[in-house]
Amino acid sequence: MQLRFLLCLCIVGALAQSDYDEDDGAEGKKDPKEIQDPRGHRPVSRGRETYSAGPAAPPPISGGSRYRGRPTAAPVGKLVLEKEEQPDSGGCNHMSEKMGVLCPTGCDLKKTVQKQERNVRPTVDQLKRSVDELTQSTNSVYGYVLDMTTEVAQRQRVSEGNGLLVGQYTDSLETQHAYIKDAVDITFPQNIKILQAVLDKIREKIQRLEKAISAQRAKCQVPCKVSCPIPVVSGKECEEIIRKGGEESQMYLIRPDPLGMPYKVFCDQTSKNGGWVLIQNRMDGSVDFGRRWDDYRRGFGNIAFDVGKGHCQTPGEYWLGNDRTSQLTKMGPSELLVEMEDWSGSKVYAQYEQFTVQGEATNYILAVGRYSGTAGNTFLNGATELFGENRTMTIHNGMMFSTYDRDNDKWIPGDPSKQCSKEDGGGWWYNRCHSCNPNGRYYWGGSYTKYMAKHGTDDGIVWMNWKGSWYSLKSISMKIRPFFKQK
Ligand SMILES: *[C@@H]1O[C@H](CO)[C@@H](O)[C@H](O)[C@H]1NC(C)=O
Repeated sequence: MQLRFLLCLCIVGALAQSDYDEDDGAEGKKDPKEIQDPRGHRPVSRGRETYSAGPAAPPPISGGSRYRGRPTAAPVGKLVLEKEEQPDSGGCNHMSEKMGVLCPTGCDLKKTVQKQERNVRPTVDQLKRSVDELTQSTNSVYGYVLDMTTEVAQRQRVSEGNGLLVGQYTDSLETQHAYIKDAVDITFPQNIKILQAVLDKIREKIQRLEKAISAQRAKCQVPCKVSCPIPVVSGKECEEIIRKGGEESQMYLIRPDPLGMPYKVFCDQTSKNGGWVLIQNRMDGSVDFGRRWDDYRRGFGNIAFDVGKGHCQTPGEYWLGNDRTSQLTKMGPSELLVEMEDWSGSKVYAQYEQFTVQGEATNYILAVGRYSGTAGNTFLNGATELFGENRTMTIHNGMMFSTYDRDNDKWIPGDPSKQCSKEDGGGWWYNRCHSCNPNGRYYWGGSYTKYMAKHGTDDGIVWMNWKGSWYSLKSISMKIRPFFKQK
């Protein structure tokens, strides 16, 4: 292998030498070493090739002036060229002189090779050193580049990480932005529209209410006057009036006590043969029944209205007054008729052939007897939906009258927090507390719940044995007349 390599070197060297022969033929031989170094050029050209063809960058980086100088190292070759005149050792010349020297023959081969080796070695050594240096510097450059690459990679990784993080932030930011934008663009305007509609409706309502209020104010500037012409027919009470010919149901003047003053009352002259004095009436919730003792004693509300026929045929909501009612029932045996209607127009009644109300001294104790009717006997039996003690404590017969400011009921007397009248809306003969509540609060429409009630109790116009506790009647009235056994 080595042999072949050397042989090859020899051939190329010989060829190269012939080139130089032509150029520098004039130069004589100087140094024997150099004379025998026809291959001195090749390292140069090869080196040049190597430098130019190899990793081009290293030479400048290594910065060695040696490397830069190399291309001009032709002088080395020129030195060799000076030994141009090689003796023909054993017929080694070409026929043509231009062809230079032939390869040494076998006999001289060893010697020649040795000589050549001697010549080549320094060059090779130099070359080796150069290569070493180059390698070294290349290595350092490579290391440097490697470091750089690593660093770049690290930075890239860091920046990628940052990019990822930034990306994530951006994503969430975009999501939030979209959400907010959606809210601002769609949801808010929608809500605002809805609220505006609600506001408009409320405004409309307020306007209507304001109109109604101003209309009422205008009306109320003139004091309310029931301009009912009082019928000429009069009497002790309505039963006497009907017997005297006052057969129209309307407002009349009665004078039960010849020593007392006459007063207005509504006479029902049509129900069950007529002759009834209306002592209580509820029909539209127009009068507040949550009143104190004195009001219930004296009476309150509107006796009757003129509906445009010249006389007052329509009763108002009123309470005749405990004193007057008591006085009427004391004149003789009296009967009571309670009529009521629900919100669908159904009507029932409860009638008691005995009805008396004691005077204020005994807090208007109620006494009823002999029930008949369709509404249920709440006064005597209490609420039939309850049992035992729970029922008996709803019986009204025998009870004293109670108002929110005068507690005479049977619910822990003396405890101001246990007062039926305070919770159930009106004055009444409360027990503990009621099975009927004709003076309770007026609820439009009938059904109500404890959440609608002021104190969570059944404070409506209740007749438990007909509609239960949570139905407030549309209308109810209480009428009395003298009781005659024959009727
Ligand atoms: C009375 O009412 C209370 C409370 O609702 C109940 O616990 C009790 O059992 C009732 N008593 C009777 C006899 O129904």
